[in-house]
This record gives sequence, C-alpha cells and structure tokens, in this order.
Amino acid sequence: MERIVKKIRQEAKEKIERIKNKEELEKVRIEFLGRKRGKITELLKNITTLPLQERPFAGRLANEIKREIQQLLDKKRKEISSEEEVEERVDVTFPGRKPRIGKLHPLTQTTEKIKRIFVSMGFRVVRGPEIETEYYNFEALNMPRYHPARNEYDSFYLNKGYLLRSHTSPVQIRVMEKESPPIRIIVPGRVYRRDAIDASHFPMFHQVEGLAVDEKVTFSDLKGVLSSFAYQMFGKTTRLRFRPSFFPFTEPSLDLDIQCVICQGKGCKTCGRKGWLEILGAGMVDPEVFKKVGYEPEKYQGFAFGMGVERICMLKYGVDDIRLFFQNDLRFLNQF
Ligand code: PHE
Repeated sequence: MERIVKKIRQEAKEKIERIKNKEELEKVRIEFLGRKRGKITELLKNITTLPLQERPFAGRLANEIKREIQQLLDKKRKEISSEEEVEERVDVTFPGRKPRIGKLHPLTQTTEKIKRIFVSMGFRVVRGPEIETEYYNFEALNMPRYHPARNEYDSFYLNKGYLLRSHTSPVQIRVMEKESPPIRIIVPGRVYRRDAIDASHFPMFHQVEGLAVDEKVTFSDLKGVLSSFAYQMFGKTTRLRFRPSFFPFTEPSLDLDIQCVICQGKGCKTCGRKGWLEILGAGMVDPEVFKKVGYEPEKYQGFAFGMGVERICMLKYGVDDIRLFFQNDLRFLNQF
C-alpha cells in the first residue's frame, strides 16, 4: 500500500509540474481525483478490501496524498491564471505614449531663417563644391600666392592645387563666370579651417555668402540690405554699427556689429567689454575680382557679404559653446 501511494504521489507531482494551461490542469485533476476513476478515488475505495487493522493507517495515508495533490493543483491554477491575466490586461484608462516628433538641427533652422530673409529680398540660393582649387578659394578673390591674408584662412590642403574651401566666397567666382549681371545670390554651405577647437572655434563650420551685381549698385544698397537682414534676424529694436574693415576681394570693406545681446551694450564677457558683437563681413566687390571673371569694372558694381551660421545662432539663442552643435545631445537639441 505505501509503495503504491508513493508511486502515485511521484507521478502526480511530475504531471502537475508539466501543466501549461487550464485544459491540461483539468485532465490531470480527473486522472487523480476524478470521482469515478481517479487514481486516488480508486485507492480510497480499495481500503475496504484490506485487513481490518491496516485500514486506519491506509486511510490516513490516502487522505494525506489526496490533500497534497489538491493543494498542488490549486497552486498551479493560480500560477496559470495570473500569467494569462498579465498577457490579457490592457488598461484603457492609461494615458497614451506621446510619439517624439523630430526637429531640424538649430543650425539648419538658422540657415533656413537666413535664406528666407534674403529670398524675400530677391536673392536666389545656389551652392558650390566643398573641395575647391586654390584658384577659386584664393587667387580669383585677389589673394595671390604668398598674400598675407591667406594666413587668416589656414586651410586643409588635399592633392596639389586642391583644398577644403575655407570660405563660401569662391562660389561668387563660379557664378559670375557662368552668368552675367544682374546677379543676386546667397550661398549656404560648410567651410573648413585648421583652427584648434575651443568654445568659439571648430575646424568645420557653416557660412552664408551673399553677392549682388548690377549697374548702379551702391554702398547704400549694401547697408540697406544688411540692416534689413539684421533687424529681421535679431529684432526691430536691435542697434547696428558699420565698422571699417578689410578683405582682399572687397573695397571698401566693413564689419557689421549688433549691440551685445547679453549686456545691451554695457560691456560683458561675451562681447569682450566692447558692448558690440560682430555678425558679418562685407564690402563692395573689388574691381580686381570683376576683371578675373571678365566683367567690365566701369560698368558694374556689386556688394558681397559673408556670415558664420554658428555665430549667428549662438548670438540669437545665447549658446556659449560652438561644440554643443556637434555633440548631438538631445537635451541641447530639444531646446530649439
Ligand atoms: N569670406 C569672408 C570670410 O570668410 C567673408 C566675406 C564675404 C567678407 C564676402 C566680405 C565679402 O571671412
């Protein structure tokens, strides 16, 4: 009798262990505890065939194992139903997950804004190659070999005669070679200089170049176009200052300053205590440049300008480190 009980118990344990769903559970229950032919039920019935003095012991044993199997089945039933619940539970009152919407990079946004302003004044957007020849990057812009101004554009040289463009001005030459006046273009794009990286320098950055050539283009046109740009970019109440400057490809040349956006002209760390911030360089196209592209200097005048997109963006939004633009940290990018 004891042996049989042990065997049945072992068998029941193994079968219950393997149960995976409600249907299997019910089958196992019937096999052991079924009222008609359950193995335990059978066992209990058989007790009456035993000799009288063995019956109490056998009865206790059989009832013990019956309870044990009952408990194992109950435990299994709970396990199964909690698993099924987890799978099926959908809480319709739960707030939905908001999809994150992508944005344009702050430099792209700034370039777009600059483009929009000049396009509204009749300028057309053109592009040029990032790999340039020394001729377009320097010579045609009135910077012959060994010209000291070349030092300002410490460049990345490639194969002989080629380099990564150090400014967008070579595109002025490419367009004037192909087209005749009137010309009104802006040129957004990447430029490269061998600068050590710090809070305001990066070896690759972005510029927007501008060029307008026609008969009777004056210095006043230049001032008017640039003022209009600065007011639209930084606000109507921005104070401007045109300051004499020098570029080999423009004469006269100027730098445009806006009153410091941080200290409002009082003088602070950002503006180097000057109260003013430079936002771009510009000037009237030098007759030497017109000669290089075959325009008659007596007949045509033009103005050109160039600005750094990173710098404009930093001043507009108060960004104090150019490196932030290139780290792609979403905590930074999401603020724009
Ligand atoms: N190319 C000049 C620079 O990179 C900017 C400039 C463009 C100045 C056009 C005058 C006219 O510094």
